[in-house]
Amino acid sequence: MNAAAVVPAAGRGERLGPGAPKALRELGGVPLLVHAVRALSRSRAVTRVVVVAPADGVARVRALLEQFGLDGHDGAGITVVPGGATRQESVRLGLAAVPATADVVLVHDAARPLVPVDVVDAVARAVADGAEAVVPAVPLADTVKQVAPAAAPGRPEPVVGTPDRSTLRAVQTPQGFRREVLLAVHEKALSDGVEATDDAGLVERYGGSVVVVPGHEEAFKVTRQLDLVLAEAVLARRRA
Ligand code: CTP
Ligand code: MG
Repeated sequence: MNAAAVVPAAGRGERLGPGAPKALRELGGVPLLVHAVRALSRSRAVTRVVVVAPADGVARVRALLEQFGLDGHDGAGITVVPGGATRQESVRLGLAAVPATADVVLVHDAARPLVPVDVVDAVARAVADGAEAVVPAVPLADTVKQVAPAAAPGRPEPVVGTPDRSTLRAVQTPQGFRREVLLAVHEKALSDGVEATDDAGLVERYGGSVVVVPGHEEAFKVTRQLDLVLAEAVLARRRA
């Protein structure tokens, strides 16, 4: 197996609040992106990492990766390319920089800095073992309600259903794909104007099959301030 990882890191992190782009915000003094790239590099399956940086931040990201001992230049395992306006566009741009020699592509959010290497390995392994698309996922802790729009702004939303929680999973990254499958669905989505919230969603949309492997609670996404507090605590526990 020869796996490349695409790391979308071009988002602004609006829900985290004002400051640097989310991928460059620090956790234990180290940018989220650096944590994420290190986690991927620890997997023996991963031979190349393509970081998708904010379009106006490519030089800054290269410098940062070098500063933390991760070479930002071609030929040394890490490539940095400019991202797009949506996550999907950023992944597509990253995918275009994946070498043709890679048969497996992992897509991993920079916003999931603490993913354990075992999860990375398990996803890559499941693709190598024959799956065309693999997502790591965990059971839901909360019951989920489907709601309809409120009758008027400020009024409570009516509940219209409660899906059986045991059949639901919260999906994480890295998501793993046979390279040609991911390329094909991103190309089709571009020409059809289709948007999905994750890459596996595009595979589903075009009739492909997606399977789930166990994720990990520490692979959570840093989205809001509270997630950063939790991430700092997890990191401190690991370092203890
Ligand atoms: N991402 C990206 N390009 C975009 C938007 C998002 O590469 N145009 C990346 C983010 O950098 C992040 C991952 O996709 O690593 C998951 O997105 P999300 O958690 O939504 O991050 P942001 O879009 O940065 O945050 P927000 O939605 O709060 O602005
Ligand atoms: Mg976003």
